[in-house]
Amino acid sequence: MGSGKTRSFFSWLLLASFSFLLYVVFSPNPYEVTPQKALNQREDPKQKPANSHDAIKGEMGCDFSKGKWVRDPGGPAYTNTTCRTLPESKSCVQYGKDPEYLNWRWKPNDCELPRFDARMFLDIVRGKRMAFAGDSVARNQLDSLLCLLSQVETPLDVHKDAEDKFRTWYFKSYDFTIMKLWTRFLVEETERQINGSASGLFDLHLDRIDTKWTEKLPLINYLVISDGHWFFRKNYLYEGGKLIGCMFCSEANLTDLGINYTVQRAFRTTLEYLSKCEKCEGLLTFLRTFTPAHFENGTWNDGGNCRRTRPVNEGDVSFSGTDWELRNVQVEEVKKLQVEKQKGAKRFMLLDVTEAMMMRPDAHPGTHWNNQWMRGYNDCLHWCLPGPIDMWNDLLFAVLKEETP
Ligand SMILES: *[C@@H]1O[C@H](CO)[C@@H](O)[C@H](O)[C@H]1NC(C)=O
Ligand SMILES: *[C@@H]1O[C@H](CO)[C@@H](O)[C@H](O)[C@H]1NC(C)=O
Ligand SMILES: *[C@@H]1O[C@H](CO)[C@@H](O)[C@H](O)[C@H]1NC(C)=O
Ligand SMILES: *[C@@H]1O[C@H](CO)[C@@H](O)[C@H](O)[C@H]1NC(C)=O
Ligand SMILES: *[C@@H]1O[C@H](CO)[C@@H](O)[C@H](O)[C@H]1NC(C)=O
Repeated sequence: MGSGKTRSFFSWLLLASFSFLLYVVFSPNPYEVTPQKALNQREDPKQKPANSHDAIKGEMGCDFSKGKWVRDPGGPAYTNTTCRTLPESKSCVQYGKDPEYLNWRWKPNDCELPRFDARMFLDIVRGKRMAFAGDSVARNQLDSLLCLLSQVETPLDVHKDAEDKFRTWYFKSYDFTIMKLWTRFLVEETERQINGSASGLFDLHLDRIDTKWTEKLPLINYLVISDGHWFFRKNYLYEGGKLIGCMFCSEANLTDLGINYTVQRAFRTTLEYLSKCEKCEGLLTFLRTFTPAHFENGTWNDGGNCRRTRPVNEGDVSFSGTDWELRNVQVEEVKKLQVEKQKGAKRFMLLDVTEAMMMRPDAHPGTHWNNQWMRGYNDCLHWCLPGPIDMWNDLLFAVLKEETP
């Protein structure tokens, strides 16, 4: 996959900065797969059409996931000066982005999405622990939440591992802990070593959970899971310990199972694990649905960019492609658990942000980040802070409020 140049760049990237690792997901291979072939491998052939909305209504009877972005000159809740934890890589205005992209608010079709209230949020989560499990986009949401909460209190940075993969913050006055639990795929993975160096190719065990993040679960009251971008590359897939296929691949004796199948299996394994987890008593899990990258006129490493300055309309986004399909398989897996409703079952909620974010090609850092080591590379995958990603936490707040007696 990719050229030697891409590979050595990838290795360099591994050392340089883990948060930009996600770029590699856009290595040139991804769209080689023949859709029909992959579709035929789908486990459940009676899938709903990919454009079905599958609305999950909140208790308030309002579907927050469908709506539009409306003008709102109110300005953001925080800036790079009031939020001391805001990562430079997401501080887009500081790096020259026109702040115009901030003047929009998400308006669900049938109601208003309440604005984030930091004090009320902290009151709800007082004495509790919340974890974000996933990749660097999960971290992106966590960073947004820290900034929103910084209106009340700046958290203490209490633990950070060498690569900033597992990290913990603490809000002292509220005895509230937030953790990042790093996992590329949610399920067990090992990176193949080729001649002693990391290859960028992974062996994924689709039916085994990645215990590096789940071992923290007994401590956790609220869990936000999300994932997806690492799946856009060649990986080898295992079930029951046996190699069953691969993805973004064309190998003699291996079936290309496709990304939709793979993501569905990984989320099914994760959600089943959580619903049966005996050490996770009282856990409330939120699944934040997949959000798309918006590279135009190229990919991440050949000049692709994202220069749009306005949201697009619903009519301009595609509900027939992989982005929406990944959202659909994630929603399906949560819905299955929600209907089971066994006695003592754990609670699972959706933060369905896919459609809203498909409409925001204007809200990525693009060239506006501290890219002194990677000039010319655009970030059209992560989201600027402040920015529309803050809406994910408005949603988290709204659902948390409903779920808290
Ligand atoms: C995933 O599903 C979407 C929507 O049906 C389809 O367009 C895409 O080709 C599928 N991708 C793969 C790799 O099967
Ligand atoms: C915040 O951004 C402004 C430019 O918008 C910059 O001048 C300032 O140094 C930044 N502050 C911090 C603390 O980074
Ligand atoms: C591994 O190293 C051997 C010996 O140097 C070489 O022949 C082979 O091509 C290398 N394999 C890969 C995949 O780079
Ligand atoms: C594929 O299967 C055939 C028949 O079993 C075998 O001869 C061949 O070596 C296999 N190729 C690979 C790449 O494993
Ligand atoms: C991509 O290229 C087309 C044609 O040159 C141009 O119209 C469009 O504005 C470009 N898009 C971006 C985001 O640069």
